[in-house]
Amino acid sequence: MPVVLVTGASRGIGLEFARQYAAAGWRVIACCRNPGSAPELASLAAAADIRIAPLDVRDGDSVARLAESHAREAIDVLINNAGIMGALPFGENLQRQHLGSIDFDLWREVMDTNTLGTVRVTEALTESVANSELRRIVTLSSATGSIAESRREALAYTSSKAALNKAMTLIAEKLRSRGIIVSLLCPGYVKTRMNVGGATVEPADSVTAMRKLIAAQTLADSGSFRRYNGESIAW
Ligand SMILES: NC(=O)c1ccc[n+]([C@@H]2O[C@H](COP(=O)([O-])OP(=O)(O)OC[C@H]3O[C@@H](n4cnc5c(N)ncnc54)[C@H](OP(=O)(O)O)[C@@H]3O)[C@@H](O)[C@H]2O)c1
Repeated sequence: MPVVLVTGASRGIGLEFARQYAAAGWRVIACCRNPGSAPELASLAAAADIRIAPLDVRDGDSVARLAESHAREAIDVLINNAGIMGALPFGENLQRQHLGSIDFDLWREVMDTNTLGTVRVTEALTESVANSELRRIVTLSSATGSIAESRREALAYTSSKAALNKAMTLIAEKLRSRGIIVSLLCPGYVKTRMNVGGATVEPADSVTAMRKLIAAQTLADSGSFRRYNGESIAW
C-alpha cells in the first residue's frame, strides 16, 4: 500500500487528508505539533492505519528527528499542509498585517512556518520520497499568494505563500530529473479554524477533489499551481 505523510494533521484540511487516505487503505503518517492535544486525530488513529508522528515545522531538530525515524521508509506522497494565517482570532488581528500597523515578529513567525517550515520538511524528506513509487510532493499554498490574482492585504500570510510558490517551483525543477512531481494546490476557501467565517467549501469536498488531482498527476504537472478544482492559478 502507498504511504502518505501529512504535516499539520491535528485538524482542518490535514486531518481530512489523513482520514481519507486511511479510508482508501493507504498507510498514513500523520504529523502534528502536540499529539497529546489532538483528540480528533487520536480517535481516528485508534480506528485506522495511521501512525502519529510529532513534528513542529519551525523546529529544525524536530524535522531532523522525523526524517531520521523515516529514513528507511519510502514516502509516496508528502503533503506539506501545516500553515498559519497569523494570530487568532484572525479577524481581530488582521491589522497586524496591514501597512501602518505591521507586526514584524508575527510576520517572521508566519514566514518561518509557511515558507521556511515547508521547505525544511521538503528538504529533509526528499530522499524518502525519491525512494518511493509515486514520488509526489504536494504543497498547500493559497490563491491569496498570487501576485496576479489577489489583492488581499494580509501582508504576512500572502507574502509567505508567494515566497513558498517561488521556492517550490525551483525545487520542482531541481527534482524533475529524479521523477519527483512537485505541485502547489490551493484548497479553496475551506471551513476550518483558519477562517473566521464566510468559507464556502467543506474540508471533505476540498480534500476529495485534491486527492483526485494528486492521483492523476504526471511529471508534466510538476511546478504547477492549481485550485482544488483543477484550474490553473496565475502566479
Ligand atoms: N482553510 C482555507 O480556506 C485555506 C485556504 C488556502 C490555503 N490554506 C492552507 O491549507 C493548509 C491547512 O489549513 P487549514 O485551513 O486546515 O488550517 P488549520 O485548521 O488552522 O490547521 C493548520 C494546521 O497546521 C498546523 N501547524 C501550524 N503551525 C505548525 C507548526 N509550526 N508545525 C507543525 N504544524 C503546524 C496546525 O497544528 P496545531 O494544531 O498544532 O496548531 C494545524 O494542524 C495551510 O497551509 C493553509 O495556509 C487553507
